[in-house]
Amino acid sequence: MKLPIIIVNFKTYETAIGKEAVKLAKLCDEVASETGKSIAVAVQAADIKAVADAVSIPVLAQHIDAVGFGSNTGHILPEAVKEAGAVGTLLNHSEHQLHIKMIAGGIDRARQVGLKTIVCANTADKAAEVAELDPDMVAVEPPELIGGDISVSTAKPEIIKNTVEKVEQVADIPVLCGAGVKTGDDIKKSIELGAKGVLLASGITKAEEPKKVLLDMAKSLE
Ligand code: G3P
Repeated sequence: MKLPIIIVNFKTYETAIGKEAVKLAKLCDEVASETGKSIAVAVQAADIKAVADAVSIPVLAQHIDAVGFGSNTGHILPEAVKEAGAVGTLLNHSEHQLHIKMIAGGIDRARQVGLKTIVCANTADKAAEVAELDPDMVAVEPPELIGGDISVSTAKPEIIKNTVEKVEQVADIPVLCGAGVKTGDDIKKSIELGAKGVLLASGITKAEEPKKVLLDMAKSLE
């Protein structure tokens, strides 16, 4: 996955599930090819195959479990995610937080099957803690700003700077940021503060004209 990057997390938004997931992912694909910018999508496990078959941008899972083949009913098997066409996964999203041991296990299993990992953290300290586990990227998202209209780069610019500094001290891993990102300007500020990209959801999944918004965002990604 090329940096800087915009990762659109489809979460469980009605506008981003099933057929709508394919439609929205195609729109992201179009914007990526029209602008030459790096855009990826994180979709529901059930939608990975259909989305991955329909687009050429990277498709991510929103979560995997640190399990292997066998008796693990209801868990998300890394091999199945890979076979469905995902190139990586989010882990420890604020809406699906994991014990540190499970994050470590998830990163190990992802590496075994060839999936990239983007590990989320609520704070700069947590980001540094998970960075020690050597994921491919770390994403900092203040939970209170998720789904809101004020972006992390405006409301809490210091968390981006602190995270970049703290992660740098333990590992050479790109830091993304997210929460409330709605415009190209929000992205520009995030990059100026040291982020190598953003993780966002409602800015696109709830937009009346998602293509217009994403084009504006992609143009600001330098
Ligand atoms: O994973 C992205 C995320 O949690 C931010 O959500 O809606 O604030 O862009 P949103």
